[in-house]
Amino acid sequence: MAGEIIAIASDHAGFEYKDVLKRQLTDWGYGVLDLGTDSTASVDYPDFGRRLAQAVAEGKVRRGVIICGTGIGISIAANREPKVRAALCHDATSARLARQHNDANVLALGARLTGLEVARDTLRAFLDTEFEGGRHQGRVAKLGA
Ligand code: RB5
Repeated sequence: MAGEIIAIASDHAGFEYKDVLKRQLTDWGYGVLDLGTDSTASVDYPDFGRRLAQAVAEGKVRRGVIICGTGIGISIAANREPKVRAALCHDATSARLARQHNDANVLALGARLTGLEVARDTLRAFLDTEFEGGRHQGRVAKLGA
């Protein structure tokens, strides 16, 4: 929903995508909580995955976006927080299903694997799609148990 604040974080490999996607979020009417990193200087992706996961766990934001080179390391880091369901998505279809079936609250992107236009569409699908509930509800509850 426009007006919602979306947290965003990346390591150095995802920094440029973070910059572009931040502007895109603002253009779409979202607020943005930028949790770093602040440049292309080398950093460690677990620090930023965990920082964003904490913001979700503490209720500062409902949803977030994390970006590293592949999206793999930073999603592993974020998923160590039990309240986080981070989904590494490479296209709009995976993002839509991650919302519909898994109630993913964090979108992970790989800047070295996913083109920027596809990443933009993936983010749009993540933001626009509601959780279906129903048969998926109990399964999602087990993820946090
Ligand atoms: C950084 O070189 C790279 O390892 C990192 O961005 C990410 O792809 C790790 O999963």
